[in-house]
Amino acid sequence: MPIPVRTNAEWEQFGRDHTCRGLGRLYDEVVVKGNGLTLTTADGKEYLDFTAGIGVTNLGHSHPAVTAAAQEQVGNIVHMQCSIFQNPAYLQLIDRLLPVLPDKSLDAIYFWNSGTEAVEAAIKLARASTGRHAIVTFQGAYHGRTAGSASLTRSKPVYSKKTGPHMPGVFVAPYPYWHSLGLPPSTPEDVLVDAAIHQLDLVFRQQVAPLDVGAIFIEPVQGEGGYIPCPPRFLHHLRSLCDQHGILLVLDEVQTGFYRTGSYFAISDLGLRPDIMTFAKGVANGFPLSGIASSKALMDKFEPGTMGGTYAGNPVACAAGVAVQDVLATGEVKANVAARSEQIFNALRALQASPKTGHLIADVRGKGLMVAVEFRSNTDKLTHEGLAPGTALPQKIGPRVQTKCKEKGVIILTTSCFDTIRFIPALIVSEEEMSRAMNVFGEALNEVALEG
Ligand SMILES: Cc1ncc(COP(=O)(O)O)c(C=O)c1O
Repeated sequence: MPIPVRTNAEWEQFGRDHTCRGLGRLYDEVVVKGNGLTLTTADGKEYLDFTAGIGVTNLGHSHPAVTAAAQEQVGNIVHMQCSIFQNPAYLQLIDRLLPVLPDKSLDAIYFWNSGTEAVEAAIKLARASTGRHAIVTFQGAYHGRTAGSASLTRSKPVYSKKTGPHMPGVFVAPYPYWHSLGLPPSTPEDVLVDAAIHQLDLVFRQQVAPLDVGAIFIEPVQGEGGYIPCPPRFLHHLRSLCDQHGILLVLDEVQTGFYRTGSYFAISDLGLRPDIMTFAKGVANGFPLSGIASSKALMDKFEPGTMGGTYAGNPVACAAGVAVQDVLATGEVKANVAARSEQIFNALRALQASPKTGHLIADVRGKGLMVAVEFRSNTDKLTHEGLAPGTALPQKIGPRVQTKCKEKGVIILTTSCFDTIRFIPALIVSEEEMSRAMNVFGEALNEVALEG
């Protein structure tokens, strides 16, 4: 049968007709090429990509070293079931990762394909090793959309809507941020941390006995929940609480790893020991790969056969992962993140200080190149703090700014919580690309301010 020839518009319609509605895809255009931060559509349109595929292509699309490593691996062997034999790329990637993990105690790695699978693996390891079923998660958390991880996800009900009942034994505490605690944006960090510690204490005194809790899961910078860095004091408090009660501390670095926040992992410089750490996204620059790291002693609490999956630790993905770590080892990415982070924060704070747009911005926050702007929304009264009485606020701003930016050639994302835009460019973003994106964002916001 001949393959039907379709126009680009027909392919777009084909996608609308035959793909899963549940994806909630933003755009129907078909992207045929990615190079650095530039995406090219089938119609030949170019976009500056400030999403990096939601924090994945940290080295830019089609990074030459990663492409070459994957191509070489394809010529050797594509699939080697990790439950049958070992393969060199798998072992080499572990060898590259061990020295850069945030704590020396983490000396064993299990590879999966996606972030949510890594979270599932962490849930399983926590339960299997402690013999305790309960898990504590945080308001605004995003840990994935499969059955177990969706039970820990608390950023938006759509991720678990109509698909319950979900995994029992999950308890939710407020994240140490003003939203989560219902406090004004100007609340000092120490007050937020004390309030969150108090609330967590209540969870343990009123909802679940610490002896029943196997793990506390936390993102060091909440991603989907609004790009909110967790104050280090709170993380250290969790560590001591876990030590006191024999609970495992699970740090979900799926989105924050591989220099996204300026250091190899978001907790790298905190002197904090996680019992289990999850990673994914940036590890292989777009090849499906994820994993958990823990001590070998903890990992060995799994009985042989407990873990595994047909594609887990695929050799091509692992070879790409090795190439990524080798690029990161040069230090150039780290230096660029520091410079570009300063640039983006300066640009956004200038918009916040500007008489034209400042009243629309409640918060500029983030770490490294995981940066968000929260708008003053009609519905969220907390964000109105400091606003001159009677100031008119437009309808929800984020999606309107997002649409305008796309029309001007820049792709940006919102986050689930509140009225927020997030910027996640590839970590190799140039000064010129950053200026362009910030100019476009500023123009878009100005237009919204004028339109009201
Ligand atoms: C912190 C965190 N954990 C888990 C996940 C789930 O990863 P995946 O989409 O690869 O399943 C994500 C995805 O955005 C994430 O940001």
